[in-house]
Amino acid sequence: MKVESEKGSEETYSSEAEVLASNHDNSILITDMPPIGEEDSRTPLSVNARQYLDKLIGQSPIFRMAKNQVVKISQHDVCVLILGETGTGKELVARAVHHLSARTERPFVPVNCGAIPQDLVENELFGHESGAFTGASCRKDGLIQEANGGTLFLDEIDALPLMAQVKLLRFLQDQEYRPIGSTKICHADLRIIAATNASITHAIAGGKFRKDLYFRLNTVSLVLPRLCDRVEDIPQLADYFLKKYTREFDKKISSFSAGAQDMLWHYAWPGNVRELEHTVARAVVLSEGPIIQPEDLRLPETLKVPRTHSFAEAKAAAISAFERAYLHKLLSTHQGNVSRAARAAKKDRRVLRELLRKHQIDATRFKSTSPDAPSQSR
Ligand SMILES: Nc1ncnc2c1ncn2[C@@H]1O[C@H](COP(=O)(O)OP(=O)(O)O)[C@@H](O)[C@H]1O
Ligand SMILES: [Mg+2]
Repeated sequence: MKVESEKGSEETYSSEAEVLASNHDNSILITDMPPIGEEDSRTPLSVNARQYLDKLIGQSPIFRMAKNQVVKISQHDVCVLILGETGTGKELVARAVHHLSARTERPFVPVNCGAIPQDLVENELFGHESGAFTGASCRKDGLIQEANGGTLFLDEIDALPLMAQVKLLRFLQDQEYRPIGSTKICHADLRIIAATNASITHAIAGGKFRKDLYFRLNTVSLVLPRLCDRVEDIPQLADYFLKKYTREFDKKISSFSAGAQDMLWHYAWPGNVRELEHTVARAVVLSEGPIIQPEDLRLPETLKVPRTHSFAEAKAAAISAFERAYLHKLLSTHQGNVSRAARAAKKDRRVLRELLRKHQIDATRFKSTSPDAPSQSR
């Protein structure tokens, strides 16, 4: 694996997979991607690490590629930004990166930035000194200290308030921070993994998310495919959840009826793997026989999509999924600049525009046009 500068990397990409797997700005370039499906044999995995990797269910080419990236990324102590719709497995992947890394024996601390009231975020992350504010009767460590030595997973990072962003950026620069109300500088050594859906580009454009912090967090990024972009994984995922929930609810259910399988296959899955998991869990609870029936799934007919098992169409769907993920990654790396993106991808600009039109992707969504957020002050 090589670390390349932007200039250097443009010359060295030899395949689209490399461009997809990389992230031109100060990122890791995956030059030695193993054939799809074969995990990088040069990265020996402990039994513990393998357990976490095996929890990532899916054999589709696009998901295997993501798993390969997880293995590689985990071996480098850098910030990671995981992009993907809700329910695509961002937290699961973050846990895998942590447990495959040298930090596995230390804590993995997940935080949902969107779930903490804005005025409490700084306190949660950095802690406070006693007497820092009314009610702060004793000093309290923040989550950064809790994760010391391990990994802090910042989910929904785009919801982080600007003041906390300034403090986080400073922490990322020198691994130092000041708890609220404290004069003492504290130190912590940890890896940050952040996650967001595409809304971070809107947050940057709207001046709600600092571009400099975004670049810092985005040292390496990983795009997780939607479930509808890897439909061939639906049967395996459904079986996995069936086993999991029959065990958990102590029920004797062996399989899905042909009708139920058909329903799972044709449903659109807007909530991705999470929705599939909940659907199977509910079906296990509701089922009265040894086989899950279509009505146990309770899936709305309105979200049925036409799909086929034919090789040609399955291949077309896999290519289409790859293109979408590739374009998303490319544009987010080049902040919606189509000319630069085309150069990096070694594609004619017109061809790239055509591809964007085909996938109805608006390049301007990836632009960060807002003036930089206010400069830092200690
Ligand atoms: N590839 C996968 N294999 C097995 N379970 C998965 C996979 N992706 C997601 N899940 C499960 O789906 C649920 C949602 O995953 P999560 O990581 O919380 O998604 P996100 O953070 O992207 O919303 C979790 O219960 C997770 O275990
Ligand atoms: Mg999540």
